[in-house]
Amino acid sequence: MKIGLLDSGVGGLSVLREVHRLLPGAELHYLGDSAWCPYGTKSPGLICERVFAIADHLLAEGAGILVIACNSATIHAVGALRATYPIPVVGMEPAVKPAAELTRSGVIGVLATEASIAGEKFHQLVHTHANGVRVITRPCPRFVELVEAGQLTGPEVETAVDEAVSPLLETGADVIVLGCTHYPFLRPVIEERLPAGTLVVDTGPAVARRVSALLAPDLSSSPVGSLHIETTGSLGILESLLPRLLPGIEATCATLPIGGPPPSGS
Ligand code: DGL
Repeated sequence: MKIGLLDSGVGGLSVLREVHRLLPGAELHYLGDSAWCPYGTKSPGLICERVFAIADHLLAEGAGILVIACNSATIHAVGALRATYPIPVVGMEPAVKPAAELTRSGVIGVLATEASIAGEKFHQLVHTHANGVRVITRPCPRFVELVEAGQLTGPEVETAVDEAVSPLLETGADVIVLGCTHYPFLRPVIEERLPAGTLVVDTGPAVARRVSALLAPDLSSSPVGSLHIETTGSLGILESLLPRLLPGIEATCATLPIGGPPPSGS
């Protein structure tokens, strides 16, 4: 069965690599909305509109499971997607629950987009799973820009990481949640700059386990895996990023300008 994955750009490839690691025989079809990236500063209405346009394409191409490899899109659209499509829709949310279980200081730091942090679903998540724990949130739009530009290391990344993480550490946070799928690509730099004993959590591996559970009965029928990656943005940029984002993984690539370019200023 084909697995369709979507994100605002290349961030969701951090989820795809976990799915591919766990299910090397799976047929994966990824569509990143890089032309409209970032979603983190867009309205819930516009995020939903884009996500439905992209999901429609993945379903038309035969996806039997849809993975929303984007926290912002999950928070604002997963309910509507599940109510609309006749296939399993796997979403992802910042890992507040595991972080609240892991913290010893009683303070967790959540790095996520502005859209995710403002979402009702995020507030419910904190209310339900972080009782008695202090949750400090912080949007990092610069991380998304850096990853979309393929810049995963170097002084600019280090400065951006320090700016985002230092205020969290000052509050006593000892667990940092990577609540946006672009951020795991910066995880090596983030970890390097955290004090010893600070934990980092990311939802990607849990999403891969969920997909694996849904797919289990079907796997025996698809022994050879395949990976097709599409972007609404530039094919040249996508092809230049892949060796850095998915080293050693072979994929076919294409560009598909769904809905055209965004109006300027959106
Ligand atoms: N990767 C996305 C997420 O997980 C959104 C990043 C963005 O487009 O702002 O929320």
